[in-house]
Amino acid sequence: MMENGKEPIVAVDGYSSTGKSTVAKMLAARLGYVYIDTGAMYRAFTLAAIRAGAIRDGKADEEGIRKLLQTVRIDFRRREQSGKFETYLNGVCVEEQIRGMEVSGQVSLIAALPAVRRLLTGQQREMGKAGGVVMDGRDIGSVVFPEAEVKFFMTASPRVRAMRRYKELTAKGEPVCLEEVEENIRKRDYLDEHRDESPLVRAADAILIDNSEMTVAEELELMSGIIRERCGGREG
Ligand code: DC
Repeated sequence: MMENGKEPIVAVDGYSSTGKSTVAKMLAARLGYVYIDTGAMYRAFTLAAIRAGAIRDGKADEEGIRKLLQTVRIDFRRREQSGKFETYLNGVCVEEQIRGMEVSGQVSLIAALPAVRRLLTGQQREMGKAGGVVMDGRDIGSVVFPEAEVKFFMTASPRVRAMRRYKELTAKGEPVCLEEVEENIRKRDYLDEHRDESPLVRAADAILIDNSEMTVAEELELMSGIIRERCGGREG
């Protein structure tokens, strides 16, 4: 709790495969805040676009997307047993489907559409405005909540990130080679940083966290210490 009686907004932005969601979830649990995964919202919209046939030959169909903008409903619900938040598309849980290769391959295309970003940014502001949230994404500290009380920007060397992703993929039985994964990460960094609409940028007041050489536990200590220092407040 801050001096003004409000709970802060914590923005966690940064490069892909830097473990943003892992640490953001743990921070939210420790602080008793709500965790909002904005990448899941772009993924859910992408799934809706795929299902509606609104992506053709690697291009988004304008008319199809326009219709979806008016009808798609995305929300997060907490599962009783595990306490985990899951993503719902039009009232149906799509947590598993949005993490698959099909959505991962198309989401950059959908996330680059200004109308989609406008819609989802508006919803994210609504979800976070009361404070007491940890929101992870690419543009939270720069666009969605430029006034967020604490902003983190996560990075790690491409090799370390590739290694983490490689382990995840091989554990799932996907046949990949490390060089290929690293190349893909460098390419995604480039696309994220160079797109016209809300490119990945570090907000001037964001705290850079390079976790190449850190364990998750060390990272969690460091980040929750920073939040405590800035905002005071409770901690579990
Ligand atoms: O964090 P993630 O990999 O689940 O994100 C999925 C995609 O959505 C990724 O290509 C970046 C994009 N994204 C975005 O453009 N803005 C956000 N706030 C969150 C994600």
